Amino acid sequence: MREIIIDCDPGQDDAVALLLALAYPETFEIIGITAVAGNVPLSLTERNARIICDLAKREDTRVFAGCAQPMKRALCTAEAVHGKTGIDGIEIFEPETPLEEAHAVDFIIEALLAAPAHSVTLVPTGPLTNIATAIEREPGVLEHVDEIVLMGGAMREGGNFSPSAEFNILVDPHAADIVFRCGRPITAMGLDVTHQVLSTRERVAAIRALKNPVADAVAGMLSFFHRHDAAKYGSEGAPLHDPCTIAYLLQPELFAGRQCNVSVETESELTIGHTAVDFWHVTDRPINTNWIYQVDAHGFYSLLNESLARYSESAA
Ligand code: BDR
Ligand code: CA
Repeated sequence: MREIIIDCDPGQDDAVALLLALAYPETFEIIGITAVAGNVPLSLTERNARIICDLAKREDTRVFAGCAQPMKRALCTAEAVHGKTGIDGIEIFEPETPLEEAHAVDFIIEALLAAPAHSVTLVPTGPLTNIATAIEREPGVLEHVDEIVLMGGAMREGGNFSPSAEFNILVDPHAADIVFRCGRPITAMGLDVTHQVLSTRERVAAIRALKNPVADAVAGMLSFFHRHDAAKYGSEGAPLHDPCTIAYLLQPELFAGRQCNVSVETESELTIGHTAVDFWHVTDRPINTNWIYQVDAHGFYSLLNESLARYSESAA
């Protein structure tokens, strides 16, 4: 059983990542879901995380609200991509899954300090504010982290929110800098790989055909998500960025990566939030990241469908 904390800003693709993880109670012990401001403000991301727990019928999952603002910059959000609620495409309701009282950063610190050495996997799928704040406040937490599997950054694909920066890193580059320099093993799913898992119409139709309430919700969210990317990039479907993290934990053989240094630009106005990936080892900067650059997209969608089919059994 792998103990994980999912730190997220749902977001349709964060929502799918959560549903993927929640489908495997025998594999993941989700010790907490921590919400951060990102795609939409914190009051919505924490509610969205709880809505997803309700959908998965896992109202016992502990959900915490964390930082409402990045460490040093003003928050920028992405309603243009995700809609006003962050998870447009499904019906929004007041969830039964409660919001824990503790601040997400306090929870992360307490949970990690209480865990055995190198035992917890952190899965951040939003701006890295909560994680970096926890590290800054209590560096001793790192000793308890097994690895960090995150969605963020880009090399070959350039940026999606500025010409050179990916959204999660751009929103809080100072937090990302702290995380990439933290010294624990990092696996990063950047745009180079997430742009390979497009939710084409056929793939969304296959999900809808599973005919269970969770699969319906995923199909609804992806149909909404699809509209933006199809119009902006002319692509066949939206990239399922965040679920790459959980898919990697479930089936790492679907992915190819390379150990290299990733450093984050925090100064330049022009390129702030850029991830400088030393893919060809042209510097002597220390290796800090397993930079994922390739995925078997067919295998990824088979895994997603299998996982969502599990909700048919629990609905029966
Ligand atoms: C990342 O930014 C958000 O819009 C998505 O949820 C994903 O985490 C992709 O750049
Ligand atoms: Ca996200």
